[in-house]
Amino acid sequence: QTIDGEGYTLLPSFIDMHTHLRDPGYTYKEDLETGQRAAIKGGYTTLCAMANTNPVCDNKEIIEYVINKSKKLNLCDVIQISSLTKNLDGNEIVDIDEMIKYTNLFSDDGKTVFDENIMKEALKLSQKYNFKILTHCDPEVDIVKSDLNLLESIGGNLHICHISLKETLRLIEEFKNKNVRFTCEVTPHHIFSYDLDYRVNPSIASIQDVNALIQGIKDGYIDVIGTDHAPHSKEDKTKGSPGISLIEVAFSMIYKVFKEKNISINKLSELMSYNPSQILNLNCGLIKEGYEGNLVLVDLDSAYYIDTNNFISKGKNNPFDGIKVYGEVKITVKRGRIIYDNR
Ligand code: NCD
Ligand code: ZN
Ligand code: ZN
Repeated sequence: QTIDGEGYTLLPSFIDMHTHLRDPGYTYKEDLETGQRAAIKGGYTTLCAMANTNPVCDNKEIIEYVINKSKKLNLCDVIQISSLTKNLDGNEIVDIDEMIKYTNLFSDDGKTVFDENIMKEALKLSQKYNFKILTHCDPEVDIVKSDLNLLESIGGNLHICHISLKETLRLIEEFKNKNVRFTCEVTPHHIFSYDLDYRVNPSIASIQDVNALIQGIKDGYIDVIGTDHAPHSKEDKTKGSPGISLIEVAFSMIYKVFKEKNISINKLSELMSYNPSQILNLNCGLIKEGYEGNLVLVDLDSAYYIDTNNFISKGKNNPFDGIKVYGEVKITVKRGRIIYDNR
């Protein structure tokens, strides 16, 4: 099959290291099918699904449920993350011997691991079993500082989720310049907007913070853009649930910022595909010599207005409804097969 890509740009498909699929337990917010259909519309073929489901993904039954249901759907490759502590309670680490058979990613995202002894033990285990810890840090600066200090003295495999502040970036720079090895993430919304009053963790920060993050991207201190796609129902939003549903417009939000700030499409591809592939030990773009590719064809000249009414995601919670963005996903290919076609 040939695709006429005249005028379009071909990139490796995107890999999201930070998605909330809400299945099991909160399927009124999102389920494995709607979340993955939204993702392929956004140009993603691999998702790392966070563990704050109900029940929490801290055991064999839940992780097998997600893995098996996703296999049957045959949409994205889903890497289900295990919670780091049982029931996200921050007190007791999950049965690593059991969960490591299914995943090499562990995260309490949605909650902060406050107990330093738990973090110390987790860092040691991450070396012994070779898994990665994805941390949610709130209060951001304090916890990032404490986690990085522990990492420096103990070692381990750490990835810091959704950093949003200039001061956090200073810490990232300081420790990376000392050759402490770890990776970090920013989300589309934390570079897209500033001073916005909308319930999301972390909060949308000031213009000084946003400019610092963008400079951090240019200087190579930010490794990954993860969406933190966090769908919620209207009712849950009124009750104060934090988060933004955005996976199907994430690329366009990011491209808009990169275009305006003169950051190359190569850099975008590095943060949305190549670096995640390296961190997760996956192939990027070409899967096998020949025609098996994970690819996305985008139209960089196209502009459109975000319209939550058109969202495939059940979550319509996106404060950028009606805002103009640039770059549109035309075709998503997974292992040589067109799984999304918007020509
Ligand atoms: C996330 C969610 O809704 O699960 N919410 C958010 O505001 N980002 C949790 C999280 O990523 O911390
Ligand atoms: Zn978080
Ligand atoms: Zn999250």
